[in-house]
This record gives sequence, structure tokens and C-alpha cells, in this order.
Amino acid sequence: MKISVIGAGRVGATAALLMAQKELGDIALLDIPEVADMPKGKALDLSETAPIEGFDSRLSGGTDPHIIADSDIVVVTSGMPRKPGMSRMDLLKTNANIVQAVTRNIIKHAPNAIILTVANPLDIMCYVALKTSGFPPHRVFGQAGVLDSARFRFFIADELQVSVEDVQAMVLGGHGDSMVPLPSYSTVSGIPITHLIQKDRLDQLIQRTRDGGAEIVSLLKTGSAFYAPGAATCQMVESIVCNKRRLLPTTCFLQGEFGLNDVYIGVPAVLGKNGVEKIVEVPLIKEEKDALARSATDVHAGQKAWEESRKS
Ligand code: NAI
Ligand code: 2OP
Repeated sequence: MKISVIGAGRVGATAALLMAQKELGDIALLDIPEVADMPKGKALDLSETAPIEGFDSRLSGGTDPHIIADSDIVVVTSGMPRKPGMSRMDLLKTNANIVQAVTRNIIKHAPNAIILTVANPLDIMCYVALKTSGFPPHRVFGQAGVLDSARFRFFIADELQVSVEDVQAMVLGGHGDSMVPLPSYSTVSGIPITHLIQKDRLDQLIQRTRDGGAEIVSLLKTGSAFYAPGAATCQMVESIVCNKRRLLPTTCFLQGEFGLNDVYIGVPAVLGKNGVEKIVEVPLIKEEKDALARSATDVHAGQKAWEESRKS
């Protein structure tokens, strides 16, 4: 398998390290000429990790788009991260131009690839990649829910002082303030969290999950989270390249599922060798369904704003 990572920044390089450690394939890191030899340097540094960590994935880096030729998967992390006080939507215009440019390179050099988008605002960047590539939606999707669910899982485990391994949680919706953590599908070793955590406290954990990205931005001050986003990206790539068919919250293009149309939103999906193998429609209580619809309305507005900006 050949995996390319476009954007050799913090998320891209972290994902590359984790994917190499798992020997998911050979990895190419592509960045822009303005960063000169940086991607080459990161690829070399990662390669020199191999003897210590004992992996045989080969890593290369550069600024010539040919480097991504014939990739099976292209991870798009190229984009500006948030600065304190910025919303993900503030990033829309700049990152849409970047995602459009890199998608054109994907069409040219890796026309059969699966595109896994990570750049923000995530849901809209998936739409930009879909519309620019013309690829089928099962080959264009995004990472957000694995990260948001991991945050929720960590907060629950920390609250109950139990192992994170025993905590399962599901966060759907857009990757933004309107994301939809689902207590009804969150458990500790099969026990619903609503049996273990009082409602008021659970509401606080849900809010902390929604603010999870901003919390890290306000602490780091020089960018946004990258360790957990890198790990989340690696988990999705692993499910695809190893055809594990994991059921993961994935930002998918909906065409009627959950009663929503023509919108990218986080939903449970099976990820395998073809990309999104299946979107799993689970029943939602009215409150959750309404929240998902509101989140979809927000994303839809962003998609439309990008469509309008293309015309002008
Ligand atoms: P970063 O600034 O460390 O890395 C971004 C890299 O993209 C830079 O090296 C930059 O030179 C490169 N780049 C820019 N334009 C490019 C182009 N046209 N072609 C190739 N490379 C290009 O940023 P970081 O922290 O790695 O974040 C990357 C993106 O991922 C941001 O948009 C951020 O908001 C988003 N993000 C999304 C998450 C999610 O859950 N979906 C989680 C964390 C970050
Ligand atoms: C996050 O949730 C910035 O979207 C990124 O950390």
C-alpha cells in the first residue's frame, strides 16, 4: 500500500509516524515549495526512527506532487490550523483554496486513491474535495468523529477513574460547535454511562467534548491539537488498508441516510478496502435527531457559502 500525506505539518507528521510504526504501507509526505526541504527532513528523521522502533515502512518527503503518484490513500492535512479566538469557519476560505489545489494534484497523480480529509473546517473541506475530484463519495470522507469520540471517552474514563479501554462513546454530527455526542450509545463495558454519571455532570463532559479542540488551542497558543488527531487518522487508515471493516464515526456524504441529503456529516460507518463500505443508520432519540439535523444545517450553509464564493 502507498499512503500519501499532504501537509507535512504537525498532524501529518504525527499520523505518518504512527502509520509507519504499524507498517501500514510506504508513506510519502508532500508539502509546498515555500517550506523547502522540510518534508524531506521529516521523512528522513522518521526513517531514522525505524531501526529503533523496528518498522520497515519506507518514507519519502518532498514538494514535487509526483511524490504522491499511484497512492492508494491520500490523507489531506494541508491547511492552516486555528489560532486562539478563531473558529474552524474562519479557516474556510484559505483552506478551501488549499484543498482544491491539492485535490487537483490527487486527480492527476493518484486518480484511484481514497481521499481522507483532515483539514478544517472538516465537513466543508470534504465537500470541496468531493466536488473538485469528482470521485464517488465512498472514496472521499473525513476524520473528525474518531477524535471527538476519543475526547469524550477520555473525559468519561477520567471522571469514573476507569480504564479508557472499557469506555466506548459515539460523537456524530459536524466537527464544530454543533457536534452531537450521543450518551445513548456510550457505555463502560456495556453499562450505559447514564447509569454511571449524573445528568448534570454528564452535560458538563459533553460540553467539554464540544469545546475539546478549542481547549487545546487555548493551551498550546501556537496551533491546534495534533497527537490525538494523528492517532485518529492512523486508526481510520488502518481500517482501510487492512480491510478491518471497523465501525467508526466518519464524516460521510449523506444521500438520504438519517433523513439528510447532500451534506457531509459524522455518522457511524464501516471502513474497509473500498473506503466507506456502509453507512450504519442507527435509531436516534428525538433530541439527538434534531441536534444532528441542526448540525447538518450548519454544514450545509458552509457548503453553500463555498459554492457561492466559487462563482464570484
Ligand atoms: P500545520 O500548520 O502544522 O501543517 C499544515 C501543513 O500544510 C504545513 O506544513 C503547510 O505548509 C502545509 N500546506 C499548506 N498548503 C499546502 C498545499 N497546497 N500543499 C501541501 N501542503 C500544504 O497544521 P496542523 O496542526 O498539522 O493542522 C493541519 C490542518 O488539520 C488544519 O487545517 C487543522 O485545523 C486541521 N485539523 C483537523 C482535525 C480534525 O479532527 N479534522 C484535528 C486537528 C487539526
Ligand atoms: C481539533 O478538534 C482543531 O479540529 C481540531 O482539535
